[in-house]
Amino acid sequence: MSNAVVIGQGYVGLPMALRAAEAGHSVVGLDLNESVIDDLNRGISHIDDVSDADLSAGLKNGYRATFDQSCIADADVVVVCVPTPLSEDGGPDLKAVEATARSIGQFVTDGTLCILESTTYPGTTEEVFAPLVTRGTLEIGKEVFIAFSPERIDPGNKKYGVKNTPKVVGGITPGCAARAVDFYATFVDTVVSTKGAKEAEMAKLLENTFRHVNIALVNEMVRFCQELDIDLWDAIDAADTKPFGFMAFRPGPGVGGHCIPIDPSYLSHRVKAKLGYAFRMVELAEEINHAAPSYVAQRVALILNDSGKAVRGARILLVGVTYKPDIADQRESPAIPVARELDKLGAHLEYVDPFVPEWRPFKDDRVLFASEDAEASAASSDITVILQQHGGLDICAIAAAAPVVLDTKGCLTPSDNVQRL
Ligand SMILES: NC(=O)c1ccc[n+]([C@@H]2O[C@H](COP(=O)([O-])OP(=O)(O)OC[C@H]3O[C@@H](n4cnc5c(N)ncnc54)[C@H](O)[C@@H]3O)[C@@H](O)[C@H]2O)c1
Repeated sequence: MSNAVVIGQGYVGLPMALRAAEAGHSVVGLDLNESVIDDLNRGISHIDDVSDADLSAGLKNGYRATFDQSCIADADVVVVCVPTPLSEDGGPDLKAVEATARSIGQFVTDGTLCILESTTYPGTTEEVFAPLVTRGTLEIGKEVFIAFSPERIDPGNKKYGVKNTPKVVGGITPGCAARAVDFYATFVDTVVSTKGAKEAEMAKLLENTFRHVNIALVNEMVRFCQELDIDLWDAIDAADTKPFGFMAFRPGPGVGGHCIPIDPSYLSHRVKAKLGYAFRMVELAEEINHAAPSYVAQRVALILNDSGKAVRGARILLVGVTYKPDIADQRESPAIPVARELDKLGAHLEYVDPFVPEWRPFKDDRVLFASEDAEASAASSDITVILQQHGGLDICAIAAAAPVVLDTKGCLTPSDNVQRL
């Protein structure tokens, strides 16, 4: 077993660090955020998928958190799980990856395995990460071992976690790959090796681009199906009975989170920057998914119009404002642009979400507080919009109390007062 340092103790790094500690590695979680570090060392988790009890068990297994980068000097394995957002111009923002690689370069010792897990464009590990780690002096595959292994964690997923989600690994040299496979095999059931680091980087972007494009497909279809009076949801259920060659994706209010709206842009940016032409599928999917919240607002306006009401002054209840069910993560949630658009039209907004007691969806500092009585809020609304289906919400009871419901998740049966997107 090794001395491992996991850099970045967020949604990806913390569960991974605890799983490695459970398997017997001596694990230090390194992060910049001092208050997160203090809480972690006191057994207080800031991540939905990690309970305080899981964290306490980790601390008993020898896990500890720190902001002192010199811990890298004692590591046999360093795993990087820092954010890779988009920059202002929509391109990749690799500042955190670069800063981390520089820190590793400063402290790394002979024989250390350095693995990048942050999602990024193909070529990053070899062209950006490795030169900073080696400082142009250490020989890769001999003095230092470098690999890419995409993180596939699905926050909130009760069935698939770190252990039973196969791990893809691509090394810069075969020796690097072998070291990384051996490391992950100690706490992940299945490890899959790719030809090189670029193929592992590409595998992750292929997975997320596949989702992005297929979500866009149904988000475009739902618009014309509505106008053609075709129940797309029913058609998808029917198509889904085909036991081969079809995978069901359902329409929704848009895409959110740290991955689907961002990762495909890394790929299209890379194609444009390196080759000078567009990755058209991604650009189209982005356009369609980006417009989905606006379509929700448009449907709200049309439904209110049917009962002789305007959006201005209407009481609108938004149900579920996170980007996924059963987690608190609001990053890139489509509920935010939906709220902004309805607010701009003069609606009086309320929301309910057991994971978000206070919500700041607007560009200014206004704050909304979650309704404590969802059914009463639905009853007094002019329209209730289902944006997320958290297990803790009784969506049927909320819908029964509401005069009119727009269901963007297809979780209710259409009826006199319920319309699907
Ligand atoms: N969240 C997901 O569902 C998910 C799934 C698969 C892949 N990913 C990818 O994994 C990576 C990490 O995502 P996340 O969701 O865990 O992010 P996160 O924001 O939850 O956590 C990142 C952590 O890194 C820390 N950090 C930032 N810069 C640092 C630095 N220079 N040194 C040390 N710590 C630093 C931050 O303080 C934060 O605690 C991203 O590339 C993301 O695209 C995320």
